[in-house]
Amino acid sequence: MQDTATLSAERLMPGVISYETPRVADDYCRWDDSGSWLLGYPFLPLALGLDELPGAHLVDLGCGPGDLTCWIADRHPIRTTAVDASAAMLDLARSQHPHPAVDYRLSLDNGMPFLDDGCADAAMASFLFTCIDDRKLMQILVDEVARVLHPGGRFTILMPNPDQVHDAAFEGFHRGEPGVRYRSGDTLPVRLRREDGSWASITNTYWARETFQEVLAEAGFTGPTTELTPLLADAYGVADPALIASRPWTAERERPPFILITATR
Ligand SMILES: C[S@@+](CC[C@H](N)C(=O)[O-])C[C@H]1O[C@@H](n2cnc3c(N)ncnc32)[C@H](O)[C@@H]1O
Repeated sequence: MQDTATLSAERLMPGVISYETPRVADDYCRWDDSGSWLLGYPFLPLALGLDELPGAHLVDLGCGPGDLTCWIADRHPIRTTAVDASAAMLDLARSQHPHPAVDYRLSLDNGMPFLDDGCADAAMASFLFTCIDDRKLMQILVDEVARVLHPGGRFTILMPNPDQVHDAAFEGFHRGEPGVRYRSGDTLPVRLRREDGSWASITNTYWARETFQEVLAEAGFTGPTTELTPLLADAYGVADPALIASRPWTAERERPPFILITATR
C-alpha cells in the first residue's frame, strides 16, 4: 500500500507540476475514479459538441494517463493531441493507452510550441487546474489554449464543483475540512479512495468559478460560456448503466460533485 506521507512529499515538489514521478503517476491510476466516470468524464464530449465535429482536432491539456483521452477517441472520429507536463504520466499513457488517433506530447515551459495558432477545433482540461496553484500559471495555460484554438472553438474545463466542499460525502473523494471557508487560490486537503479501499491524502488548489470566468475572458474567450453541474439523474443515457447501478450514489443525487465550464473562443 502506498504511504501517504511519501506520496505527499513527492507530490509537493516545488515548481507546481504534480504527478512528476513514476510512483505518483502510477498511484493516480489506482484512485477510484468511478464518480468521474459517472458525472464528469462522459459529459465532456457533450459539452464540447463532439458529435457535431467529425474529423475535429481536439487538444487534451493535462491528459494524464490517457484513459479518458482514448475513451473519447474510441467514440468519436476525431484526432487528439494529448499534452502533459509530466514525462512520467506520458510514459504511462503511451504504454497503457496507445491509440492511432492520439498523439501524446510533452508540453514545453507550459506551452504547446508543436501546435500552430488556430489549429484546434476543440480543447479540454480535465482536472488539470486542481493541481495548478498559481493564477498566473493558470492564465498562461489558458492563453496557450486560446492560441491553438480557432475562433468559435470550444474549451471545456472539468473540475470538482467549487460550491461542494467538505459537507458532501461523495463516492471516492472528500474535499476540504469542515468549517473552513476556502478562497480562490487556497490550498485544499483532499482524500481520494483507491480501488483497493485505502485512501490517499493529497492537496489541491481551490479555484472559485469566478476565477475561471476572469481567466477565460482575459485569454480572449469572448463567445458564449456555459456551465454544467450534472447530478445522478443526468447520468442516465450518458454514463455506463452498470456504473449507475453499482452504488447508491447518495450525495450525487442532490449535490453535483463536478462542474464543466465551456467557453467559446
Ligand atoms: C489530476 S491529473 C488529470 C489527468 C486527466 N486529465 C484526468 O482527468 O484523469 C492532472 C494532470 O495535469 C498534468 N499537469 C499538471 N500541471 C500541468 C501543466 N502546467 N501543463 C500540462 N499538464 C500539467 C499532470 O501531470 C497530470 O497528469
